[in-house]
Amino acid sequence: VSHSVAILGATGLVGRTALTLLEERRFPVRSLKLLASDRGDRGERTLAFRGSPVQVEPVSAEAFEHIDLALFTCANEVSQTWAEPARAAGARVVDNSSAYRYFDDVPLVVPEINADRLSARSTLVANPNCSTIAIVMALAPLAREVGIERVHVATYQSASGGGSETLDVMEQGVRAGLEGDPPRRADGTPALAFNVVPRIDRFEDNGYTREEMKIVWESRKILGIPDLAISATAVRVPVRVGHAAAISVLLHSGISPDEARRLWTSMPGIELVDDPNADRYPTPLDVAGRDTVLIGRVRRDLTNSRGLLFWVVSDNLRKGAATNAVQIAERLAELSAAASAAGHS
Ligand SMILES: NC(=O)c1ccc[n+]([C@@H]2O[C@H](COP(=O)([O-])OP(=O)(O)OC[C@H]3O[C@@H](n4cnc5c(N)ncnc54)[C@H](OP(=O)(O)O)[C@@H]3O)[C@@H](O)[C@H]2O)c1
Repeated sequence: VSHSVAILGATGLVGRTALTLLEERRFPVRSLKLLASDRGDRGERTLAFRGSPVQVEPVSAEAFEHIDLALFTCANEVSQTWAEPARAAGARVVDNSSAYRYFDDVPLVVPEINADRLSARSTLVANPNCSTIAIVMALAPLAREVGIERVHVATYQSASGGGSETLDVMEQGVRAGLEGDPPRRADGTPALAFNVVPRIDRFEDNGYTREEMKIVWESRKILGIPDLAISATAVRVPVRVGHAAAISVLLHSGISPDEARRLWTSMPGIELVDDPNADRYPTPLDVAGRDTVLIGRVRRDLTNSRGLLFWVVSDNLRKGAATNAVQIAERLAELSAAASAAGHS
């Protein structure tokens, strides 16, 4: 079975990565629509798919006619405008924005962990936050096999996580900073070049940022532990691609770093890069362009024998966004093929 696919936000960082992944993973694409804004100053645009140029079209309700899979890789407001028209036209929507992640009736899925939330009837599925995906990939086997008492996370998130504009501004700032001072943002926010910034997304009333609360809300929903004790500090760093997180976890019973490594080794999608004697540990440059979540620096918490500290790195545009979304699409395609085969038998 092959599919009529649309990508809304195709020209963005996640959209272009999704296009690459449909090609790399040989997703059965029958026809492809690339959709973006109708801003006239963008001119005529094409993107390559399987060696041929595909024209980028402005999004419209008609654009979703005869589409069966729509990957949304755009901002919340854009997803909110087009999710219902796309579903009404018969498309299943996999949404990368945070617009629908916290709705009880919308599955929030990391396929290695909770693919069972998907069904042949799912017409709207949310893709989690880019840092959250790597964090829950690392926590899932610990939660399942040992039990988690509490988690503290500090993230180190790359500029591409903020979209094309944040990446461009950071790169321009680095160039300017080599000549003089990196420019401050027009809105008064601190430059990212030559800096680290402990604020991603807006502040909530509790003093946490929304990015930090996304990690809290989404980890609970994906792991299926509604009262999971978890808090986070989310920090933007002047790295192009690849988010890292330093995680401190307190478990229900103490396990050694080697036992934890064994649990992670048996989890699909995780790779250990952890050998202090050989100076081996994962960094964003190691993971950029890859789909696995890398874990290293595993050690006992010096303050509690049931605690472990470790370091997790993933490509925010791939496993943190497009890879996970395409994995969801693959699973939905399998489920609908199985449902129609059952219907015909
Ligand atoms: N970057 C990451 O690591 C990451 C990870 C997980 C989730 N996400 C989420 O994924 C989404 C996309 O992120 P991104 O980093 O790819 O952003 P981006 O690089 O800024 O791309 C945004 C895309 O949305 C399109 N767009 C903007 N306004 C539009 C409108 N009014 N109508 C239709 N299309 C419009 C843009 O098209 P034009 O070219 O026409 O402007 C572009 O294709 C966001 O919700 C983000 O939070 C991002």
